[in-house]
Amino acid sequence: MKIIVTGGAGFIGGNFVHYEVKNYPGDQIVNLDLLTYAGNLETLKPVEDAPNYRFVRGDIADREFVFGLFEEERPDAVVNFAAESHVDRSIEDPGIFVRTNVMGTTTLLDACKEYGIGRYHQVSTDEVYGDLPLDRKDLFFTEETPLHTSSPYSASKASADLFVQAYHRTFGIPTTISRCSNNYGPYHFPEKLIPLMISRALADRELPVYGKGENVRDWLHVEDHCAAVDLILRHGKVGEIYNVGGHNERTNLEVVQTILRALGKPESLIRFVTDRPGHDLRYAIDPAKLTGELGWKPRYDFDSGIRQTIRWYLEHEDWWQRILSGEYSKYFDDMYGKRLG
Ligand code: NAD
Ligand code: DAU
Repeated sequence: MKIIVTGGAGFIGGNFVHYEVKNYPGDQIVNLDLLTYAGNLETLKPVEDAPNYRFVRGDIADREFVFGLFEEERPDAVVNFAAESHVDRSIEDPGIFVRTNVMGTTTLLDACKEYGIGRYHQVSTDEVYGDLPLDRKDLFFTEETPLHTSSPYSASKASADLFVQAYHRTFGIPTTISRCSNNYGPYHFPEKLIPLMISRALADRELPVYGKGENVRDWLHVEDHCAAVDLILRHGKVGEIYNVGGHNERTNLEVVQTILRALGKPESLIRFVTDRPGHDLRYAIDPAKLTGELGWKPRYDFDSGIRQTIRWYLEHEDWWQRILSGEYSKYFDDMYGKRLG
């Protein structure tokens, strides 16, 4: 099978490309990525010479380019990871989220409609469900939870999901959607909570925790997410949505304290800063459909996963230092200058 993986130079897409290239030597993996600030070809070094791998730079929202690529490659499947993915950036500049996340998705769907496709898989997020209250630990997101978005990012992802379902129903495109909770693990761009805190703690710099640090996220190791997407792509039922998560809820403060303990750094590095506008309180996934129907089980719990991840950041300092010394530094000043004073 030939699979176009979009956004394969990013965090999860990159891990997914590694997973597919290694586990399916008989398949062809075409990695389509625009290389925005979040795309990093160094992430693909372990697979770049593999005979079943090819990288193509391009924009999923560029219709002429996407149709040209489909004409050339005639893929059997598309897995769409490409997106603007950072909530804080969507608050600063929503427009690019509409272009990439909504227009990019519909452009890919149009190409699938034009050229035919065996499967289109949309990588979505639990953020489309909005948030849950902190004092109702009995509540979880299921696939039937209504869409109720908070940020421009989640609104763009929910909108893309609706288009995927519309193209399935109206045009018969064989689609699936996965909605995963917060990922962490190797190759995570250091603007997101966990790699940001690891890299700053190692440099003995202040750790900006939004609000009181009481917001809860449901953490899943990226390899477990990749295994879930692979399972849904190959065995999921057409037209269905699958939630992905492993019941690993932690407050942000607990996550930061865990990192500090593991690195032997003091809690005095923590700095409580102005909260994120519209900050979702709690995410928590019920993965019963995925575990029951497709037999998916995560390999990592948060304790083993965060140990592996911290070790990876310690052993791959080159990878993230090169990001920090580039455009990211300027971005960091723009974003946190006003928060840290
Ligand atoms: P990321 O920001 O690390 O990577 C996004 C990739 O998409 C980058 O390589 C970037 O260059 C590429 N890209 C951006 N715009 C593009 C365009 N117009 N055309 C082609 N490529 C483009 O994101 P991530 O954290 O790896 O997330 C991947 C997907 O998974 C996203 O769709 C996101 O919504 C979803 N998701 C993420 C998480 C998480 O915790 N990170 C959880 C659930 C779902
Ligand atoms: O739930 C899935 C989503 O998880 C994905 O769809 C998104 O693409 C991904 O970015 C992530 O969104 P979050 O907003 O939850 O992730 P982030 O790492 O930005 O923040 C995690 C929590 O930590 C959130 O409650 C905000 C908080 N935070 C974040 C940063 C960057 C801080 O307290 N300080 C920070 O500096």
